[in-house]
Amino acid sequence: NAISRGNYRHFMLKEIHEQAAVIAKTLEGRLGDGHVMTHIFGSGSGSLMTDVRHIQIVACGTSYHAGMVARYWIEKLAGIPTQVEVASEYRYRDGVVPDNTLFVTLSQSGETADTLAALRHAQSHGGYLASLAICNVPGSSMVRESDLSLMTHAGPEIGVASTKAFTTQLVSLLLLTLALRYARNGDDEMQARLVGALRQLPQLINQGLALDGDIERLSSAFAEKHHALFLGRGTMFPIALEGALKLKEISYIHAEAYPAGELKHGPLALVDSDMPVIAVAPNDELVEKLKSNLQEVRARGGELFVFAEENVAISEGDGVHVLRLPAVDEVIAPLLFTLPLQLLSYHVAVLKGTDVDQPRNLAKSVTVE
Ligand code: G6P
Repeated sequence: NAISRGNYRHFMLKEIHEQAAVIAKTLEGRLGDGHVMTHIFGSGSGSLMTDVRHIQIVACGTSYHAGMVARYWIEKLAGIPTQVEVASEYRYRDGVVPDNTLFVTLSQSGETADTLAALRHAQSHGGYLASLAICNVPGSSMVRESDLSLMTHAGPEIGVASTKAFTTQLVSLLLLTLALRYARNGDDEMQARLVGALRQLPQLINQGLALDGDIERLSSAFAEKHHALFLGRGTMFPIALEGALKLKEISYIHAEAYPAGELKHGPLALVDSDMPVIAVAPNDELVEKLKSNLQEVRARGGELFVFAEENVAISEGDGVHVLRLPAVDEVIAPLLFTLPLQLLSYHVAVLKGTDVDQPRNLAKSVTVE
């Protein structure tokens, strides 16, 4: 029952293009009338959602980046203090657990050794209200050993570099955020708006993926580079981290991501004409600040590649390349802006001739420490 690449050259490209469909699947049966259903995390989860006062998220790799996005969402939209930590650190730390903390593991495989050990560490040290696994593999160790679970329904992911598992994790985390808000506030206009935006999301994802050809043309500018810097603010900072991780994993170009406001505290010293700088610019309240960060890059001769929402006033010019994404609700933006970064790393890797689906030294699932 082997999974086929179909007409795609690599599994990664196929999986990138499956995202609209698997996101639709992840949403199926989980949206109510103007709110998210609170019982979708398993039996008793409806009432448990009202008791949650803190959230601890633990994950590795790409899944960790999804957790970082969720922190911005949960604190802003549900008002619940949230911590996110890589599992290999969390499992060896004697952290303090505030009362009524929900412990959340994020994992595509449900078998990552460090994340599983972190879950067991949390359970044996006690103090948690409940554990929730957001996972792509039903019946995996993390799902079996957690009190609650939510499946991401991305389907089998073969490419080592995670793509559709990440975006379906983001969707699942937005469902969690909205379920927590509903449990605290009941219905409100914001939830109705976001549920509407989630229903439109598969269509929006396909609009974003239509940039494939433009990004392929852009990718030649990276093939000879040795370093790249990704910048974003707010939820776009973890998206920048994920973009840098994808580029590292499959094209072997050294890439770093920084919150754009930290540029002046170090990485600006590295910027010159050999250092392409990639920025993600949705039309949010931080866009003007991001634009001044980008001017600092240009002033040092850095070549800019900006993925900007269509109504953001940034223009193409000498050393400034701008690719436009459709207008999107600010909350949904991390999902949309992930796509061009996935496509960029893919096309750069293809140009460099690396083994895209099986990058050197990496494994799809790291089940030993
Ligand atoms: C490996 C994979 C990554 C993945 C990470 C966590 O490093 O190569 O793509 O993000 O493990 O895996 P998980 O299955 O727990 O999400």
